[in-house]
Amino acid sequence: MENNINSSKISPTAHITAHAWDMLGLSNAKYFVNQNFKFVFNIIRAFGLPYLVNKKNDYVYFMLEPRHRAIEYFMLSKFPYKQVVEFACGLSPRGMTFSENPEFTYIESDLTDMLELKKSKVEKVYKDKKIKRPNHKFIEADLFLDNLSEKISPLLTKDEKTVIITEGLTIYYDMESLKKIFSNIAKLLKKNGGGVYITDIYHEEDMKRNIFNNSVMNLALKFLQIKFYMDIDNSDEGESFFRECGFDYVESINPLLFSKQLGLKTKIPPENGVATIYLAHVF
Ligand SMILES: C[S@@+](CC[C@H](N)C(=O)[O-])C[C@H]1O[C@@H](n2cnc3c(N)ncnc32)[C@H](O)[C@@H]1O
Repeated sequence: MENNINSSKISPTAHITAHAWDMLGLSNAKYFVNQNFKFVFNIIRAFGLPYLVNKKNDYVYFMLEPRHRAIEYFMLSKFPYKQVVEFACGLSPRGMTFSENPEFTYIESDLTDMLELKKSKVEKVYKDKKIKRPNHKFIEADLFLDNLSEKISPLLTKDEKTVIITEGLTIYYDMESLKKIFSNIAKLLKKNGGGVYITDIYHEEDMKRNIFNNSVMNLALKFLQIKFYMDIDNSDEGESFFRECGFDYVESINPLLFSKQLGLKTKIPPENGVATIYLAHVF
């Protein structure tokens, strides 16, 4: 299938989230920031200027932090599988942090240029600190590849269930594209003994709960000249869409339920977040 948007246009957004992870003080995030993108990062934050008065209007806190921490909560608490593939990993520090535990095999994947950049940054840190990390692996892959499963499977062991993650990706693709991506991921899990796909999806109804934050996000993405989509209206639609794509059982956790269910430690109450986390299982 042809990728119907220019994926490479999305890649710079990874530099912006890298600054957010650094600002939040996430472990190892400092190794991935590029100062050339700090200005853009701050311009986007400035769209939500009232954050100076109330942190809840800062997109780092309402859009990014709850989803990042919720994904990790599920990885660690609910699915303690030790084999992780993070597609569209960008410059997130998660792979470096989780692979500190030698029991985890952490495979990071992204489009060629982004993956090369990520790998070179990681290798530099490991070289400087004389770290050997054979359980931290890299493979470039476009999620639209027809042979995605064949490409990734040799890196996986079927004896272990797999957690697959994408974070901050789905908003950039329409339903037809998401169908291909989700079906590819379901196929990969099916071929390798099953597991769970964890991802974030933004529903318009959650964005609209806070009109101000909705405009911050609209402005930010327009400023970056990137098309974005919120075609899945709510979690009922989302859950049945995942099932159509080949998943056996799907759960969704609305941001309004984050705080009660997860006890996440975030800078603003997690229910001010706007991302729904989906846990799509293949048995
Ligand atoms: C907003 S960034 C998110 C990066 C990282 N997950 C994070 O949360 O910091 C989106 C990432 O998706 C990657 N991406 C976009 N289209 C892709 C595709 N078709 N296949 C694989 N990766 C893709 C981009 O290169 C970029 O690194």
